[in-house]
Amino acid sequence: MIKFPEGFYFGSATSATQCEGGTENDGRGKNIWDLWYEEESYKFHGAIGPGITSSFYQNYKEDIQLMKQTGHNSFRTSISWSRLFPQGYGEVNDKAAEFYRSLFLELKEQGIEPFVNLYHFDMPVKLQEMGGWENRKVVDYYKEYAWTCFHLFGDLVKHWFTFNEPIVHVECGYLQCYHYPCKVDPKAAVLVAYHTALASALAVKEYHSMKQGGKIGIVLNLTPAYPRSSHPEDQKAAKIAELFQNKSFLDPAVKGAYDPELVTLIEKHGLLPEAVSEDLEVIRQNTVDFLGVNYYHPFRVCAKASLPNPAAPFTPGYYFDNYDMPGKRMNPYRGWEIYPRGLYDIALNIRDNYGNIEWMVTENGMGVENEGRFKTDGIIQDDYRIDFYKEHLTWLHKGMEEGSHCIGYHVWTFVDCWSWLNAYKNRYGLVELDLETQKRTIKKSGYWYQELLKNNGFES
Ligand code: BG6
Repeated sequence: MIKFPEGFYFGSATSATQCEGGTENDGRGKNIWDLWYEEESYKFHGAIGPGITSSFYQNYKEDIQLMKQTGHNSFRTSISWSRLFPQGYGEVNDKAAEFYRSLFLELKEQGIEPFVNLYHFDMPVKLQEMGGWENRKVVDYYKEYAWTCFHLFGDLVKHWFTFNEPIVHVECGYLQCYHYPCKVDPKAAVLVAYHTALASALAVKEYHSMKQGGKIGIVLNLTPAYPRSSHPEDQKAAKIAELFQNKSFLDPAVKGAYDPELVTLIEKHGLLPEAVSEDLEVIRQNTVDFLGVNYYHPFRVCAKASLPNPAAPFTPGYYFDNYDMPGKRMNPYRGWEIYPRGLYDIALNIRDNYGNIEWMVTENGMGVENEGRFKTDGIIQDDYRIDFYKEHLTWLHKGMEEGSHCIGYHVWTFVDCWSWLNAYKNRYGLVELDLETQKRTIKKSGYWYQELLKNNGFES
């Protein structure tokens, strides 16, 4: 039997844009995802926008009841910045404040600890029009937004996160054109990354100064980069991948400083932003209390086979190539590699290189296309997902036994949710959502999770 410690946080995660819907309700301002889906050209696979979801904005009480039924003791969501501040700054939207207060209150009353994230890819449009994260002023607006959230909800929320996967809005928005503003601009990407790390540290500073007795962290998609071979060039490729994908946010957040090798690389391209020394001091002094880790798949990398495009440093394929490792185990229903041992490697990396800081798995999950095909007797028989969770939890548990200080595990996600680029193509939930009727049906994995939570462990 694999047993987790008493009080281990088990639950699930989502984000405001992916579950709330109600995009036109009660004075919510637009964020960049509303904009993205208003522009025909950005839609992938004819996907629909964030207006059509599981309508958590209306249904949260029912969903919380279901969470309670499955035994959740914790749940992560985010606050929608543009719902709380329709302009991104200035006047608070009272209706939004009311909604989030009653959401967090309901969770508390049902014995579910709220873990709340401030930013999950969802820049308010009004702020994007000023340049979004490229504009230093937006960092100050974020600080005000963070302060307001702590002020309004800090009595109910004791676990905060400043950002979810910040490397994603840097890469997708400024290097790869998967998120608004859809630029390929390495200089802007570096500036956005720096401003985001600074914004995170400023939020940590605000939170600590308010002495509310909780904890504040950041959620990072720490994706281990495994080299193709022990050849020095492959090893170097993996090291650079680690620098960009993981250390770029992990080091400033936990150690208060950037890895000198990363700084040298950026400097070499003449892309170092003009950092103000007070700002660097803010990053240095305001490190996180704990860490959230999202893990789905690893990276396999190798040395480059051809010369990179000199005009586009840091774009995919510039420093290393992806390695298509023969025999790797794939999720046949979505296309990501499945490598549960990666979670163990992450656990030991945090233990050995980051002062064994307290951390938790904030997302882990398996997306599946056309899940309806696995339905019998009205229930999706998602044994593949149960296996996925069991294997990841087994490796996580091993890491904990070896001393890594993990305090929780949240699956992605509870009710099937909307996704940024493909809406409902890949389903992740423990609970099936019928988009037309809004009916929720617990999947086989949901019942399995219920047993796991009841026993705080499972038979291996
Ligand atoms: C994580 C994000 O990276 O992956 C989630 O934090 C996202 O917002 C999840 O939904 C799964 O990815 P996708 O693209 O399959 O929805």
